[in-house]
Amino acid sequence: MVQTNLKPTIVSDSNFDLNTYLERKKELVEKALDESLPIGKPEKIYEAMRYSLLAGGKRLRPILCLATAELLGEKQNTAMATACALEMIHTMSLIHDDLPAMDNDDYRRGKLTNHKVYGEDIAILAGDGLLAYAFEYVAENTKNIPAERIVKVLAILGKAVGANGLVGGQVMDLDCEGKSDVTAEILTTIHRNKTGALLEACVSSGAVLAGASSEDLSRLSIYAQNIGLAFQIIDDILDVTATTEELGKTAGKDLSAQKATYPKLWGIETSQAKAEELVKDAVAQLAVYGEKALPLQAIAEYIVRRKN
Ligand code: FPP
Ligand code: MG
Repeated sequence: MVQTNLKPTIVSDSNFDLNTYLERKKELVEKALDESLPIGKPEKIYEAMRYSLLAGGKRLRPILCLATAELLGEKQNTAMATACALEMIHTMSLIHDDLPAMDNDDYRRGKLTNHKVYGEDIAILAGDGLLAYAFEYVAENTKNIPAERIVKVLAILGKAVGANGLVGGQVMDLDCEGKSDVTAEILTTIHRNKTGALLEACVSSGAVLAGASSEDLSRLSIYAQNIGLAFQIIDDILDVTATTEELGKTAGKDLSAQKATYPKLWGIETSQAKAEELVKDAVAQLAVYGEKALPLQAIAEYIVRRKN
């Protein structure tokens, strides 16, 4: 069930506080996610799906979708099913990313990874189950807007997941492991697909649900592409500078797995400066919206100063 009586968030220049905003939105998203996936049969697979879907995290992707829909005047409950679906897709990509056949990680969001708890067979199927359910959930639970917007959102999600998005980015990422000749251009393509594509889908799906004009869509896509890349640059930096406790996943993994990263190519300082420049360009896209865009602006700025 999707929430039906959510209050809109009122934002004004004088009282906007990002922490409060993120806390409130996260609370709504957690509740909606919990309600989105009740235990069914066979219980084992539902438990495995819920284990990772409800493992916490920043919930940045759903929040971006809700914030974009609200920026363009849509009620956040209209976008809640899509917001949940984006988190389902993100979660399934992490379950599969952590598998022994890929990054072979034991911890995620401060908990044992899905395959460590349920076994590899169930972890693969839990990921598949979440991916399929994401599309079903949007189609079944998005109410009170024209069907063509919902079809567009389904297409956006499919494109972000596929060989031109997460899947393609992950293939390139795995191919580049252990290689010393990965250029900044290749690395940027990997990250634009592996991380950027879904972040862009969060923003563009929220925009489409709100009936965005083509001008809105192109501005907001540029915003999202920039914050997507900045997000990944900071991820690479945190892998070197943060602890396992701070990250909730094994720190230093990029180095031990011989991954290509921005700090390896440019050093930490230049990488940080590059991320800040990307965020500045992202925020510039929001100027036309005035103070209504404060949440998206603050989220972009948060991305470069986050610690996990
Ligand atoms: C984490 O990256 C992984 C991703 C952002 C996505 C991985 C994509 C897949 C496994 C494809 C999933 C399949 C479908 C159908 C969507 P990372 O390893 O750099 O970060 P980490 O340190 O958090 O693991
Ligand atoms: Mg990984």
